[in-house]
Amino acid sequence: MGAGLTRRQFVTGAAAVTGAVALGGAGYVAANWAPDDEPDELVRETMGAGMSRVLVVYGTKTGCTAGIAEQIGATLAEAGATVDVRPVEDTPDAAAYDAVVVGSGVRAGSWHGAVKSWVAAQAAPLKARPTAFFTACLTMASDPEKADEVRAYTDPLIAETGVQPVDVGLFAGMNEPKRFSLPERLIMKAMKAPQGDFRDMAAVAEWARGVAGNLGLAG
Ligand SMILES: Cc1cc2nc3c(=O)[nH]c(=O)nc-3n(C[C@H](O)[C@H](O)[C@H](O)COP(=O)(O)O)c2cc1C
Repeated sequence: MGAGLTRRQFVTGAAAVTGAVALGGAGYVAANWAPDDEPDELVRETMGAGMSRVLVVYGTKTGCTAGIAEQIGATLAEAGATVDVRPVEDTPDAAAYDAVVVGSGVRAGSWHGAVKSWVAAQAAPLKARPTAFFTACLTMASDPEKADEVRAYTDPLIAETGVQPVDVGLFAGMNEPKRFSLPERLIMKAMKAPQGDFRDMAAVAEWARGVAGNLGLAG
């Protein structure tokens, strides 16, 4: 197992493999993105007492983060919320919910571009209601002591959009070669990244229970 995997190693590993297989700049660095300048309409639905509506929105390349999002949604539903778990491609409207949880897998130290774009486009409603982030990645499996480094993956997004999460959940993801493209497999192999599904759903549920109060759900 690749001890001490760092963001720099993911970036340099990607660069090395990119060169080696002549990917022609397809690249695995963070996608460029631009925040939407137009503020979203601030519409807050009136909810029945004790029936907070929570949106759990996620971006995934392999399905790994979808499973984590489903677990968060199930746990928040147990806490009494009405929960929608949606892929970011559905472009859900944050203004239709009382609280939001946003999560993504990671490539080269950054959330997937579609999730960053959604947060930027939804910044106004997200800032007007409690919003939590979560990140699924391999560093939390290989080097959990590097949690601060993983937490910092979302710092540029927070600075760019002004969306201040009430918490950032950090979860181990997966490295299952059959779910990756060939170039991605080569990158992971070059890095000697540990193989397997390292998701710990008990830890995910524990985080969701802990964050429920910060999302305005009754404890
Ligand atoms: C090309 C590539 C780059 C990656 N870069 C990172 C990284 O910088 N940091 C990290 O902790 N994990 C990294 N990972 C691991 C993924 O974040 C992990 O596989 C995660 O479970 C992906 O979730 P998703 O498939 O739901 O998007 C990388 C994986 C690949 C294939």
